[in-house]
Amino acid sequence: MALIAPSMLAADFLHLEKDVMLVNEYADMFHLDIMDGSFVPNISYGFPIVEAIGKVATKPLDAHLMIEHPEKYVDRFAKVGVNMLSFHLNAVENAGQVLAQIRAAGMKPGLAINPDIPVERLFPYLDQCDYVVLMSVFAGFGGQKFIEATYRRLSAVKEEIQRQGVTCMIQVDGGISAKNSRKLFDLGADILVAGSSVFHSENPEQVIADMKA
Ligand code: DX5
Ligand code: ZN
Repeated sequence: MALIAPSMLAADFLHLEKDVMLVNEYADMFHLDIMDGSFVPNISYGFPIVEAIGKVATKPLDAHLMIEHPEKYVDRFAKVGVNMLSFHLNAVENAGQVLAQIRAAGMKPGLAINPDIPVERLFPYLDQCDYVVLMSVFAGFGGQKFIEATYRRLSAVKEEIQRQGVTCMIQVDGGISAKNSRKLFDLGADILVAGSSVFHSENPEQVIADMKA
């Protein structure tokens, strides 16, 4: 499938429309990183930015919640136009319930884990997820180095999805560029999130094309 989701965390917030148009034209969805300064030691942006992007977006909005109590905000993300909503497994008490809540609100539910959480923890929920988010850096900041152990984790999740016979996409998030995209797609990733490699480049459309090649 080879879908690219540019992370708007690395976009130019003074000229956001320019970067939104770039995603509309060359990429597949908007990855929106929502951080609360509590679940992760960083604060990003919230509803007004998501809503503004949604007004001109022609590609789906994929919000990645790195917040405590994501269940409290599900309806509001639906209201501002989010199509895909992921949260972290260890941010909630009952992941199955939150996945169901997201689906009931009309969005595609996704379940995320940091690199230090065993992938097996995702397995009981695969049939309830439209996608899982395998973090290839620790959630909290853009511009970090890709963690190589992700390849093994990705293969293990892919194998289990096939074993269970469920339709669940795999999104990999963090430190991704044209240097590692081919291998990730070959191992079964469906969606690659890339922030810095896209928006800090002189030629973002070429970087997106290279990642899909
Ligand atoms: C990290 C975020 C990522 C990040 C990706 O907490 O979830 O989506 O913005 O950015 P890069 O591509 O710079 O690692
Ligand atoms: Zn993210």
